[in-house]
Amino acid sequence: MGTPGLPVVIDTDPGIDDAIALMLALSGPELDVRAVTTVGGNAGLERTTENALRLLHLLGRDDVPVGAGADQPLVRRDSLPAESIHGTDGLGGIRLDPAPRGADRRTAVELVRDVVEASAEPVTLIALGPLTNVAALLAASPGVAARLGGIVMMGGGARVLGNMTPTAEFNVWYDPEAASRVLASGVPVTMVGLDVTRRARTVPADWAALHGGGPVARAVLGMVEFYTGFYRATSGTDAIAQHDALAVASVMRPGLLTTRRLHVDVECAGSLTRGMTVVDLDGVGAGDARTEVALDVDDRAFAELLVERVVGLDARTRAGAG
Ligand code: RIB
Ligand code: CA
Repeated sequence: MGTPGLPVVIDTDPGIDDAIALMLALSGPELDVRAVTTVGGNAGLERTTENALRLLHLLGRDDVPVGAGADQPLVRRDSLPAESIHGTDGLGGIRLDPAPRGADRRTAVELVRDVVEASAEPVTLIALGPLTNVAALLAASPGVAARLGGIVMMGGGARVLGNMTPTAEFNVWYDPEAASRVLASGVPVTMVGLDVTRRARTVPADWAALHGGGPVARAVLGMVEFYTGFYRATSGTDAIAQHDALAVASVMRPGLLTTRRLHVDVECAGSLTRGMTVVDLDGVGAGDARTEVALDVDDRAFAELLVERVVGLDARTRAGAG
């Protein structure tokens, strides 16, 4: 029996790239996914929760508890799900079999609290959506926050600022107050932002080995086809950014990213800059440099890891190693 993986909880808003990130997280021994918690973002909470349950069932992981969290941001009421990007069902219209179980009776915050308190080792929180649940956890359970092994968030940007507006990345834009509180909390945060996730791309040809594959392969091909259609229509490219999978991969392979410890603030009030992560790249401000900001990525190594692991998932699931 190999050494157990790093204990993690994944907070997510599946979401096509979230789904592929979850597949990567469950593709090998590196991570011990103790729980999945869901948040509204790419789709509404009811949909992201159902998607998480169905994805775990597809991967043979009905054992992983799913805790539903926040549907709405902490303060804002004008954030709308990104249905144009991920489809009204959040997964590009693929039809996954229903899971044989529902969400855990505990909320996302209660579930993470219990997982962290029961763990002998520090638990790393990987946040792939708006940070509403994470901010709520830190506020409700400061003792739990102190026991986290760290927070790895997909979100924001240092030099590459926005994909939702010219100055804001979607996850931070969706709930800027939550992001601001998480970054100011003192819990060690690694920010995997657009500077690196924009380079973490796959193209349709990368997934050629999935054709003729099993249920996981069919699901991935369906999601990639939908996501590629969005990128072709909006950016004229068929190279899709695997934002969330890079955040997961960075925990599995820390060497993939180059980071600098910098001060990061979040603009919550600006009319043009709501959700902007203000990264003090030159250290000219007075803020403490406490956030590890990803500024470079080995994009080829990432893509190779992602494709190899996802292509192997049907065999892994059949073997019951899910
Ligand atoms: O900006 C990219 C992020 O927004 C990803 O997490 C994607 O899933 C969307 O939620
Ligand atoms: Ca996401």
